[in-house]
This record gives sequence, C-alpha cells and structure tokens, in this order.
Amino acid sequence: MSSHKYEFAMRRALELALLGPAHGVNPQVGAVILDSDLNIIAEGFHRGSGTAHAEVDALSKLDLMPAGATAVVTLEPCNHIGKTGPCAQALIEAGVSRVVFASNDPGEASAGGAATLRAAGIEVVSGVLQAEADDQLRVWLTANRRKRPFVTLKWATSIDGRAAANDGTSKWISGVESRADSHKRRSEVDAILVGTATVIADDPELTARKPDGSLYEHQPLRVIIGERELPIDARVFNDDAQTLQLRTHSLHGILEALWQEGIKHVWVEGGPTVASQFVRLGLVDEFLIYLAPLLLGGDRTAIGDIGIENITAGKPLEFVEVKHLGNDIFIRAVERKN
Ligand SMILES: NC(=O)c1ccc[n+]([C@@H]2O[C@H](COP(=O)([O-])OP(=O)(O)OC[C@H]3O[C@@H](n4cnc5c(N)ncnc54)[C@H](OP(=O)(O)O)[C@@H]3O)[C@@H](O)[C@H]2O)c1
Repeated sequence: MSSHKYEFAMRRALELALLGPAHGVNPQVGAVILDSDLNIIAEGFHRGSGTAHAEVDALSKLDLMPAGATAVVTLEPCNHIGKTGPCAQALIEAGVSRVVFASNDPGEASAGGAATLRAAGIEVVSGVLQAEADDQLRVWLTANRRKRPFVTLKWATSIDGRAAANDGTSKWISGVESRADSHKRRSEVDAILVGTATVIADDPELTARKPDGSLYEHQPLRVIIGERELPIDARVFNDDAQTLQLRTHSLHGILEALWQEGIKHVWVEGGPTVASQFVRLGLVDEFLIYLAPLLLGGDRTAIGDIGIENITAGKPLEFVEVKHLGNDIFIRAVERKN
C-alpha cells in the first residue's frame, strides 16, 4: 500500500507537534486519527513530561472509534510505562486498525512499539515523511542515542568570522532580526552555557528575551564553566533564571552532569575558548551562525585552534539551512558524515 496517501496527515501531525514545548526531557510529538475515508477526526500533541502523549491526547478527543481508523504519529508509539502508560497499548485498546509513524524511537526502554502493535494484529506503516520528522526531532533523537545533551554551538560574527573588534567590543555584530531569532531559539533549549571569561568581560544576562525586552515564559538554566570566582553582582546571578557554576574544565563531565539533571539540549554561547574546545572534542551537534555584512579583521575569531594542522584535516560541514535575516545570513550547519 502506498504510504503517500498518509503524507497530508503526517504534515498536520508535524505541525501539531510544534504546539508542544521544545524544552524539557520529552520530544515534541503530534498525532492525528483518520477515519476509513482518510478524514481527520481527531488531533493531539504532547504538552511535556507527565502529560498525555500525542496519540493518547488525540484518542481522548473521540467518544467512539470508527471501524478502519488509522492513527498517524510523528514518532513510533512508545512501548514503556513511564509517567504515563504505553501508547502502543492505548492504541490497541482504542481499536485502531492501522498505525502510521515517521521516526523510529531510539530509546532502550520505549522502543518496540511497532512490534507490539504488529503482534496485536494492527497494520503498521513506518517512515512516512521520516526525513522531516527526524529533523524536527533531531535534538531528542540525538540526545537519546548519545546519552548526553544535544549541543548547539551558536556564534554571531562579521563576514570575515570575527566575534569582536580588536578592542573586544562586540555589541551588536548582528542585526535585530538575528538577535530576535537567537533569543527565540534560546527560549527552546534547556541550558545556555558560557565560560567564566565571557561573564567577566561582558556581564551578560543570558536570558531569553522577546524583542520588547520581556522574558520568554521558559528560561534555560544558565551554566557557567570554569574555576574563577565571579562577581556576586554579575547579571547572570539575577532572579530571571536559575544559574549553575561548574568549576571544572571537563566538557564530557559537564555534559554528563547536565544529562543526569534532565538537560536534553545545551546551547553553547562562547566565548571562543570554550567554543573551540567543544569543536575540538567533536561535541557539537549543530552550528548556528549569524553572519553580518561587516568587516572587522583582527584576530578575534569565533573559534580558535581546534587541532587542525592542514587543509585536508579540516572538518567538513554541511549547510542544512541558509536564510536571510534582515541584512544578515543565518546558517544552520552540521558536521558532514563520510
Ligand atoms: N560574538 C559572540 O558571539 C561572543 C559570544 C561570547 C563571548 N564573546 C567574547 O568572547 C570573549 C571571552 O571569550 P574567551 O574565549 O576569552 O573565554 P570563554 O570561552 O568565555 O571562557 C574561557 C574560560 O572558560 C573556562 N573553561 C571551562 N572549561 C574549559 C575548557 N574545557 N576549555 C577552556 N576553558 C574552559 C576557563 O575558566 P577558568 O579560568 O575560570 O577556569 C577559561 O578560562 C569576550 O571578550 C566576549 O566578548 C563573543
């Protein structure tokens, strides 16, 4: 049977998924239920840890399950009993005839939903719009595969890759649109991380703010790494968000500690010393780069030595997304495999 006929429903499920929170330990998942004529008769999405999963949310909208119904879900229905019951079982009990999903669940405890459904005689179609869903779920999928938080490294530079002018000033290299975009993205992560030197030099707030200056509802945990004492009146210690100083240089140890605390997504904001170490250790899952139409020259590059000795040893990247933001260019890039 062609899986194309479910793509419209999967597109809707992908839209619904985004209504749930991007931060927190759980993934953003959307679901729709179709009747046998492929009409959408119920919609659902996941609202975060401890709340109903997307399939169960959609099922709850129906008093009666019509014969021949199909559940379309962006992620393979889970098979484990966590804070809520297993979705595979809920779908079996609800009496759907078919389950269509996009991404496979990589979790050790939660995977296997497809097999459970098939064993119960339900038709299962997997991989519908999988590339789109894998991209939408990349933070959660990668974090669960690697058993550590997904790491986003962000920098804003002049077109020649400088993060500051010779005197160290860097406000504002990028334009208002870029700053609004990066603050919105900050509001979707669990933690924002910088080295002590950035706090000492810039006294940043490290909060996620809307263009009018007000705070987003969700504020990431502020993580400062390094052994130096920081001024107690530094703005990172204000009441707008929680702050943690980790007095270590071990990035693996830091990521492990944050993972234990339920941090799924860390946003590394710099400075260049800390950013270079993340790159050098191969710990960056995604690069977000805001390039401004400005020349600065000098030696204050976005990252420094990353252990590359010659051109053939360079780390090849792949641009996943490139767009104009005001006068700037936004690039989302990942390390190229192969
Ligand atoms: N344009 C931008 O996007 C941007 C963003 C951020 C910062 N900046 C600029 O960057 C400058 C500060 O950057 P920076 O490179 O000097 O310092 P940094 O990266 O902010 O902090 C370096 C410090 O981090 C600590 N650290 C913890 N783990 C480490 C590890 N594994 N490797 C290295 N350091 C580790 C050390 O602190 P201890 O010595 O305390 O142990 C180290 O001295 C400022 O001038 C700021 O304006 C620009």
